[in-house]
Amino acid sequence: MPIVAATKESIDRAAKALAKGEIVAFPTETVYGLGANALNQAAVAKVFAAKDRPRFNPLIVHVLGLEETEAYATVNDTGRKLICAFWPGPLSLVLPRKSGCAIADLVSAGLDTIALRSPSHPVARDLLKAAKLPIAAPSANRSGRVSPTTAAHVDAELGNLPAVIFDGGPCTLGLESTVLGVEGDRVTLLRFGALPRQEIEKVLGRKLAAPDAGSHVTSPGQLATHYAPATPLRLDASKPRHREAFIAFGPNAPNLAGPMINLSRRGDLTEAAANLFAALRTLDAVGAEAIAVMPIPNHGLGEAINDRLKRARSPVTLTASADLP
Ligand code: TXA
Ligand code: MG
Repeated sequence: MPIVAATKESIDRAAKALAKGEIVAFPTETVYGLGANALNQAAVAKVFAAKDRPRFNPLIVHVLGLEETEAYATVNDTGRKLICAFWPGPLSLVLPRKSGCAIADLVSAGLDTIALRSPSHPVARDLLKAAKLPIAAPSANRSGRVSPTTAAHVDAELGNLPAVIFDGGPCTLGLESTVLGVEGDRVTLLRFGALPRQEIEKVLGRKLAAPDAGSHVTSPGQLATHYAPATPLRLDASKPRHREAFIAFGPNAPNLAGPMINLSRRGDLTEAAANLFAALRTLDAVGAEAIAVMPIPNHGLGEAINDRLKRARSPVTLTASADLP
């Protein structure tokens, strides 16, 4: 059983595990998180695999504070005001990614925004300090299950998948963070959570906006605003046609001279997930008439990859934002 108490040694060991690309479960004041080095696509893909997520919902990146946030995102006065008032604490802010942002594309599910929060739980903070890395962490439950608020819940859901499960006792809040989108002056309530809306409105001196089609920032698999390449996608293609770029998968991909990226030569779906968004961006930029995509097996992370590819191909209508599993 990988449950351990947080000590200097166990925290240092977990920080090294994170740096090596392993995943670690840790307590926050809201719920337990399943964390990965947010700079490492492959590590982030492991989180999706462990959660059995049928979709790539964007993840929250945990940081120590404003300084780290500004390394990755653009923070305006409104964002700064919210950070001053509520961090560390149960508030996540969805902010524009800075250009050249080092956070893995998979964390944002290809969006141009990134959700950040600074947790107050001492174990989470000690881990952030030791790792010196931004930690992408969704709640440490399997997809479709409720969020865990004790180490034992995490163990029951995920067992040995994380290298370590830190026991920080029961979460004091037990409810996920409130998620706000900040676009200029407009602050949108994307997910109800542990920080009540009234407290936020008091600080802002105005009402929060409801997520609607007027906002560019939307939550999870709601995808109208997910990164969609400008180049059309042609799915289930065995090989590219003339003037098409090609996304391949597995050892049996044809050998081609044209623009082509193999998501995983060894046919590993976790590796493929880690490479997906970068591949779409790269091939979108080559000026092809379409991007042909080989069939991806529809199991494990393959389901999430296929879901993402279908949505990237066909823009869907924006629905109201609810928290998806
Ligand atoms: O309390 C919490 O926030 C916990 C602990 C572990 O910190 N984390 C958590 O993460 O609940 P997760 O992945 O289960 O939820 C992430 C939420 C989703 O509702 C997701 O849609 C939203 O944050 N989100 C993340 N990035 C986003 C983005 N770029 N745009 C819009 N929504 C985003
Ligand atoms: Mg969750």
